[in-house]
Amino acid sequence: MIEIEGKHKISKICCIGAGYVGGPTMAVLADNCKDIVITVVDINQERINSWNSENYNDIPVYEPGLVEIIKRRRNVNLFFTTNISKEIASADMIFVSVNTPTKEKGIGAGQASDLKWIEICSREISDHAQGHTIVVEKSTVPVKTAQVIKSILNSKKNRNTFSVLSNPEFLAEGTAINDLKNPDRILIGGEDQNAIASLRNIYLNWVGREKIIETNIWSSELSKLTANAFLAQRLSSINSISALCEKTGAATNEVSKAIGADSRIGDKFLNTGPGFGGSCFKKDILNLIYLSNYFELREVASYWQSVMEINEWQKERICQIIVDKLFGTISGKNIAILGFAFKANTNDTRESPAIDISKNLLEEGARLKIYDPKVSKYQIENDLNLREKDLFKKNEGLWEYHESIKNAIKDTDAVVLLTEWEIFKDINWEEISPIMRKPSWIFDTRSLIKIESIKNTDLKLWRIGEGEFN
Ligand code: NAD
Ligand code: UGA
Repeated sequence: MIEIEGKHKISKICCIGAGYVGGPTMAVLADNCKDIVITVVDINQERINSWNSENYNDIPVYEPGLVEIIKRRRNVNLFFTTNISKEIASADMIFVSVNTPTKEKGIGAGQASDLKWIEICSREISDHAQGHTIVVEKSTVPVKTAQVIKSILNSKKNRNTFSVLSNPEFLAEGTAINDLKNPDRILIGGEDQNAIASLRNIYLNWVGREKIIETNIWSSELSKLTANAFLAQRLSSINSISALCEKTGAATNEVSKAIGADSRIGDKFLNTGPGFGGSCFKKDILNLIYLSNYFELREVASYWQSVMEINEWQKERICQIIVDKLFGTISGKNIAILGFAFKANTNDTRESPAIDISKNLLEEGARLKIYDPKVSKYQIENDLNLREKDLFKKNEGLWEYHESIKNAIKDTDAVVLLTEWEIFKDINWEEISPIMRKPSWIFDTRSLIKIESIKNTDLKLWRIGEGEFN
């Protein structure tokens, strides 16, 4: 294939959206392209202030390795500002990295993506861009969104021109910096070969050519939704098997190992858990379901619907098991929740299974004592939509926030382990056991607890995908 050199030299990039994707993505880009000036813009002044904060603990996204890059590149060739129109006007290339949540109202509510923010950005770009601008869809969007963006961009009668590319992001939270530095692949969808070459040349600064896949724009948009749907489907598959393991004496981690050794299946993404969370799996599958229904492909829609149903069921059945083991009622009982983030190494709680499981336990009347090493009390308060200050005014159904594992577990009947934080592996259960009320239970939904660590205690252990240990 003949390499077409980027006709448009890219010296200024603007990224709209300073969130979990925009911030880390542009940080890694700035670190690898020192001759390009990159500005990340956002309408949220508070978020921009946090990115610019002198106190590195204020950086709004927690990702291992991110702060080191911010220290190196911020105010050198990486800037954060709310001056959106000015940055659009001077950019050669604009990444659109705004949120695309599920629609809450109107046609497609609860399933379709809300493209309001994409549309607002497109109008802003149309109003302020100068000369020729390459617009890159970084956000995850439904197939055919590029068409909407193009229509808006080209709606003005002036001399400005645009090329629209799709370049979905595959980073996972908690490993974002490593994923961005060493991606499995870079996907670029589009028609304009010069624009594609310009974007490819940027990635070639640190990614091998063999990892850059180029497709038509619709394949690129659909590949992103499909990748997330396949990953989520794998989790629902192993989670469904976990329930079967618990009934039969099989152990899910052994089954995962056995099936993962088949190179056609592969060994990644086979850890059973409390159900998948995170900002994207649910919304992207819902979006796929909506698209399938829109094109009247009912069987396709119901296939993906079942992935969602197993995920909801996994959370419900864990709550049911907790209630059953605690003699059929948890009303007025203290339960420690260890881990609130949707996975380890992130402070993100979006769609975290901990939210639904906690709400469900509260509904049953439990008093929750919650600990997470990175999630703030404020965040948990928002997620549960309950004020902690009322705790113990009533006798049940309320929660408190703890800053130490030991305090969270003190005087509880049960510990429910929901996020796979490393520190939970090191808990000294022999020391902890005496401070719990008897009989005391550990419900391990992440298979973190080693049997040996509770051998000399009177703790009862239920582990996901295996069941109860006596
Ligand atoms: P986010 O909510 O963390 O960040 C989005 C940011 O865009 C917000 O700060 C918001 O204020 C800003 N914004 C919205 N409209 C704007 C406008 N008109 N002008 C300027 N700023 C505006 O979202 P995110 O997690 O970074 O996700 C962004 C996109 O990337 C989504 O489509 C998501 O599906 C996709 N994605 C996310 C991840 C992830 O791990 N979070 C991974 C891959 C892809
Ligand atoms: C996921 C994808 O992995 C990314 O490729 C994608 O870019 C991103 O969604 C997105 O589009 O937002 P993320 O949600 O950050 O990334 O995290 P994952 O590591 O995929 O975990 C998702 C959920 O699955 C978590 O709740 C996690 O605990 C759970 N999980 C993951 C398991 O229960 N078992 C596993 O083996 C792996």
